[in-house]
Amino acid sequence: MGSTHINGEVLETRILPVNTTDLGHFKNPQTLETWELPTDIANNVSLQEAARCLKTTNIPVAFPTETVYGLGADATRSAAVKGIYKAKGRPSDNPLIVHVSDLTMLRSLLTPNIESLTNGANLAHHSKIDPIPQIYKPLIQKFWPGPLTILLPNSQPSHLAPEVTAGLQTVGVRMPSSQLALSLIALAGVPLAAPSANASTKPSPTTAEHVLHDLSGRISMIIDGGACTVGMESTVVDGLCNPPVVLRPGGVSLEAIKECAGWERVVKGYVDKSEVGGSAPRAPGMKYKHYSPKAKVLLFEASSTDVQSTVSRSVLEMVKSNTGGVSRFGLVRTRHWQEWAGWDKWIQGPTGLAIQSPEIILQTPNSFSMRKAGLLCIGGDKEEFCATVFEIDLGKETKSIAHGLFSALRELDHRGVDVIFVEGIQDEGDIAAAVMNRLRKAATEIKS
Ligand code: TXA
Ligand code: MG
Repeated sequence: MGSTHINGEVLETRILPVNTTDLGHFKNPQTLETWELPTDIANNVSLQEAARCLKTTNIPVAFPTETVYGLGADATRSAAVKGIYKAKGRPSDNPLIVHVSDLTMLRSLLTPNIESLTNGANLAHHSKIDPIPQIYKPLIQKFWPGPLTILLPNSQPSHLAPEVTAGLQTVGVRMPSSQLALSLIALAGVPLAAPSANASTKPSPTTAEHVLHDLSGRISMIIDGGACTVGMESTVVDGLCNPPVVLRPGGVSLEAIKECAGWERVVKGYVDKSEVGGSAPRAPGMKYKHYSPKAKVLLFEASSTDVQSTVSRSVLEMVKSNTGGVSRFGLVRTRHWQEWAGWDKWIQGPTGLAIQSPEIILQTPNSFSMRKAGLLCIGGDKEEFCATVFEIDLGKETKSIAHGLFSALRELDHRGVDVIFVEGIQDEGDIAAAVMNRLRKAATEIKS
């Protein structure tokens, strides 16, 4: 429980553990037509409670997906969708992704909502045509259920609350692979609109605790499904234009999409800061912040050389300028950096740095380990303890880097660090582009 709601109302926020022994299955995994709930779903108290909340209230429910935790609401009801913006504490002109449990749900979503017509217009002939555009069939076949969002023409009249699409003619839809998410959607019986369940500008949440940290007091339920397996949001694609476009890099790579029929010429529709021109280091503050921890983030592109002396120089400057108290900073390493970015015994002239009594303070099996150490500043004949350093090793594989990244940034914020030095990776292949896209948005400064 906690923070004050923007409108003065404080809700009690509970993390609900879920019985995951049987959450259902696709009747036919080849066609994805129908997600079947188990017969004893009535006994799944947490899921029942969450579904009831989604159907009967306007308070959104946080739930896990394989990418990140989402903040879900009934996409067909305006009041419920408005509850998402209220809980996140911001107005929004940014459209929301709609989550479906199976293709039957998607087809009815894309079929005009004739019941809403009062003038008796007959749109029945539409029902014979498959409302899912052909261009998406190979993608659905290959990547659904999973971390891919496709833009589809919104039906007219639509089943969706207008707040979902923010006035656009298209709607972003995804079928998550998390069984918990699929069952919750099926049980609610309606498509769920859901942005990532973070406070705006913060890194996306990959555990129930992250959601609690950001939205405590603002929602009443967080379904706990453990840590998200992908850890990075879905890839968003638009196949309604020619050539098709990747609007946001994410859990499915551009290379994998290119292998699908009709997608050979897919282009990147987003711009990374690294491509905006100008030489590094870029001035802080000239970018819009996103996925950002409180701490300043100094990102080193994979190509950057001289990391060791840059980090040590920055650290020395930071320590010198910090007259009161002990500085704290974080290091996040990935593929090539050595321990402590290689400056654990860095000496230049009469000054230098040395790491003191390192200890492992956090070890999470699939994600990362974190070590803490003291830092000794060597200046002339005087040596003094001057900072606390936290080092996180995300591992060398893109998968583990993506999986632990948001969590690592949050963990370092939690330790109260002032600056985080991050080792970037080459943004080609698998989901490395998504990792670097998020890091560049989080960065205060980039060294290339
Ligand atoms: O993995 C994910 O996609 C997570 C989980 C919860 O599913 N959701 C997520 O939602 O990241 P959100 O709201 O944080 O990001 C949605 C992205 C935004 O960049 C938004 O602009 C884009 O999808 N989007 C949604 N509908 C769109 C549309 N009709 N046209 C263009 N972009 C759209
Ligand atoms: Mg988001």
